Parts: sequence; structure tokens; C-alpha cells
Amino acid sequence: MVTLQTKLPKVGTTIFTRMSAMAAEHNAINLSQGFPDFEAPLGLREALARATMEGHNQYAPMAGLPALREQLAHQLQLTRGVSVNPDTEITVVPGATEGIYCAVMACVKPGDEVIVLDPCYDSYEPSIELAGGVAIHVPLGNDGFSPDWQKIRDAVTPRTRMIMVNTPHNPTGSTFTPADMDELQALAEEHDLLVSSDEVYEHLIYDGRQHCSVLQWEGLRQRSFAHYSFGKTFSVTGWKTGYCVAPPALTAEMRKVHQFVAFVAVTPVQQAIADFLAAEPGYPQTLASFYQAKRDLFYNALADSRFKITPSGGTYFQLLDYSAITDTPDYELCEQWTRDVGVASIPISIFSEQPQAQHYLRFCFAKSDEVLLQAAEILCKI
Ligand SMILES: Cc1ncc(COP(=O)(O)O)c(C=O)c1O
Repeated sequence: MVTLQTKLPKVGTTIFTRMSAMAAEHNAINLSQGFPDFEAPLGLREALARATMEGHNQYAPMAGLPALREQLAHQLQLTRGVSVNPDTEITVVPGATEGIYCAVMACVKPGDEVIVLDPCYDSYEPSIELAGGVAIHVPLGNDGFSPDWQKIRDAVTPRTRMIMVNTPHNPTGSTFTPADMDELQALAEEHDLLVSSDEVYEHLIYDGRQHCSVLQWEGLRQRSFAHYSFGKTFSVTGWKTGYCVAPPALTAEMRKVHQFVAFVAVTPVQQAIADFLAAEPGYPQTLASFYQAKRDLFYNALADSRFKITPSGGTYFQLLDYSAITDTPDYELCEQWTRDVGVASIPISIFSEQPQAQHYLRFCFAKSDEVLLQAAEILCKI
């Protein structure tokens, strides 16, 4: 028998895989995993078919197709008002998860501490641990899941190397304000920290809020990796392609890892997205109103339920506070309702080291209106 000591003792099968499998097994409406149940724009799917038929099927350059990186730089100018060099600052990656992993592996050394804000996306801590670093968990505040800057400051030590943030935030739907960005910038400059900014939901932001990107704060831009995902922006989570923006010196280090983790992202997907963005550069900016209508539909359909609900500020997730219904822990309730009630969700406590709030479930509203109304009708009966 071979002996093997696991490098990731805390990691098992992800909750997303488990809940989606359970939803299928019990024929429950699946609002657990974050993916749309509707198709990507026709023009994009046609562009992919065309790209492969026209022969874009071999390795792309390691940093990504130049045509795509140019379109991305154009998008960043259009949507964030920032000028980014497509050759030295943009790297196309096979999913934001890979970009995040490569950035952490490139910069975090054994013994370094990395601050994460709980609840946080589940890939962060394993990436830190594989780099030999230590994740320092700081809970988001109880009032609306905003960052508690005093607590974050208190967590900084001489070993802190990086802070990982995510806005709009999965799973809570909270968003950073300009004041939060100022705090982040001041902290990072004062302690010479690197920043990993997960902005995969940048376009899914509601009620007139503006997305705050690290690229727009000059002091942050100098020390940050900003991560984006086409899966979220173009409703193609299965295409697993995204990009990472960082200043040239950080990009160079991140690419050293990327070239030996994946080397490249899939060529025809890159070509298709480049062609689609050239034809429809305004498409990403249509997403906020599209998803806000879905959020509102789901929210209004739950008006007669016993859940307490603060409308999601961003992402395609809505938290429901079930404290008026039961005190069952969220992970138990989630399984119970998938099995017995017929709606699958995600418990948010599993994204925290020491869950402070166990009475929230996360529901994905990137679903057809019919499915959302059906799910709400069931949830209103609880
Ligand atoms: C906050 C966050 N970051 C990163 C990702 C991963 O994106 P990708 O599928 O492009 O790897 C997700 C996907 O759900 C996410 O919610």
C-alpha cells in the first residue's frame, strides 16, 4: 500500500458538487450552484462554432490571443476608465480560479500570512495552503456583510503578504463602496501588501451601485491582481475562461506559474469572445438590468414568505435569512429542504472558518423566470 499524507486535509468534495448531485437525485429545483439555466447570446455561440471551423484550434500564445487582450483592454477603458497594456498587464486564463491560484502561488512563500474575509470563495484557502502560506480569516461585519476595517487592521502582522477581497461578493451579494476601497488602499500601502481582487461579478451590480475595481485606485493598481471570468459575464461557466490584470512585474511572476499549471486557455473560446466583443462591445453593460429584473422577480415572489430578505446588491445570489422559521444549522437545513421540500440552495457557513451567522441560505437567481417563480412558490409554503 502506498502511503500518502494529504496536502489538503480540510478539503473534500465541494459543496457545489454535492448539492447539485443531491438536487438531481431528489428532483429538486437547483438554485444551489452558480450557473445560468439559459443559453449564452446566440452571436457568441455562433462565434465559437466559426472559430473552430475556421481553424483556431492550436495553442494560443501563453498570455492569450492578442486580439482578445486588445478587446479586454478596450473594455476596461470603456467600463472602468482605465488604460491597461494588453501585452504586459493582461493574461487570459482557463477560469478565474486558475488565475487566482497562479497569483497566490507566484507571491506567497511558506509561512506568509494571507488575510481572507469570511465567508469567502472556497478556492482561496487551498491555494494559500498549497503555496505554504497561512490563511488568516477575518469575518465580514454582521450588518450587511461589509468589511470591518478595524478587525482587518488588527489581523495584520509582519508576516502578512496579501489580502484577498471579492466584490460583488459571493455568497452574500454585498459590494465594496469607494470608502472601502480607500481603506483597502491605505492598509495595503501602509503594510506593503499585495491584493488579490476577485471581481468576477463586476457587471452584476444593482440599484445604481457602481462596481469599485482595484484598477481604479492608483495605489491599489500598483500592487493588485484583478481577476475576471467570462463564465459569469457571458453565461458560459462551462467554457472556463477568464483573465487576470496586474502591473507588469506582477504579471510576469504570475505568468511564470500559469505557464506550468495550464500554459494556455482554450484557443477557439478566446477567438469567439474576441469576435463577440468586437461585434457587441456594449453587451457586458446590459447585464446589470437583466439580472436586477431576475432578483426583483424572485424577491417579490417571496414577499409572503417567512424569510427575512435584504435584496442582493450584486452577483446572481440572494441570501435568505430563515431565523424566523427554524434554528436548524444551515448545512442540515439545506440538505433537508433539497430532499423534502424540493429546492436546493447552499449553506453559507461552510465558507467561514468560524461561522458567525448560521441562519442564511444562498439561492442562485441566474435561472429562467418560470423556475424562479416555481421555487418561490414552494419557499412561501415553508
Ligand atoms: C467569487 C468567485 N470567484 C471565482 C469563481 C470562479 O470563476 P471561474 O469559473 O472562471 O474559475 C467563482 C465561480 O463561481 C466565484 O463565485
